[in-house]
Amino acid sequence: MKRIKLPSHIAFIMDGNGRWAQRRFRPRGYGHKMGVQNMFKICSHAFHLGIRIVTVFALSAENLKRPREEVEELFELFRTYFAKKREKMLELNAKINVIGDLSALPEDIRESMADIMAETEPYTDFLLNICVNYGARQEIVAAVNAAVSYGRFVDEHSFGELLLTAGLPDPDLIVRTGGELRLSNFLLYQAAYAELYFSNKMWPAFSKRDLEKAIESYSSRDRRFGNIREEQK
Ligand code: FPP
Repeated sequence: MKRIKLPSHIAFIMDGNGRWAQRRFRPRGYGHKMGVQNMFKICSHAFHLGIRIVTVFALSAENLKRPREEVEELFELFRTYFAKKREKMLELNAKINVIGDLSALPEDIRESMADIMAETEPYTDFLLNICVNYGARQEIVAAVNAAVSYGRFVDEHSFGELLLTAGLPDPDLIVRTGGELRLSNFLLYQAAYAELYFSNKMWPAFSKRDLEKAIESYSSRDRRFGNIREEQK
């Protein structure tokens, strides 16, 4: 890759697993299985390139309304990678942080997630946030309710501290695969100034080179955060 400006925090909407599988006459669950393998490949490449924080949308609050069978398949993937094959998660050498309403998950999964989070707590080079049963509107409403219950007014900073991403910098770049052009209730507050990148590739087919192209696109953009460039002043 040529000399480029790297995002500090990149977030992925890993869309297209189901379509990728169905186009191959395979069940949707196979798409998720290949999707999670690709998640490890892309996250480790992002870390290898020097990106310190990666956030992935692994399960939306709305995804839980899918047919029971598909939800169970996704739960089984969580069991696999947080428990049985937990070494895959540890190999990333990243602190793992699971974000979302975990109360809807089976207890064994919640426990294995808590174990991985505790075990990787000391890792400081890289951070992987895995959003599970996450919804941005739900997150914002919960933060408002927390502020009300504390009886205090908030500003942008203190409100941010009530969100599930408290303490984290906002994503610089959000990448969505699968060809859809929307955020689908992902990091709505944190995305205020994120650069957006949409890929027509289905998530299991999104390659390391595709990631580099997304970063090159990010690098070529002029981020002004509502201001104007110095030379225009
Ligand atoms: C969207 O594809 C993807 C999901 C609903 C799930 C993504 C989850 C993973 C990749 C697994 C995460 C697992 C771990 C262990 C972190 P879709 O099914 O909506 O695709 P479609 O739009 O083609 O139907």
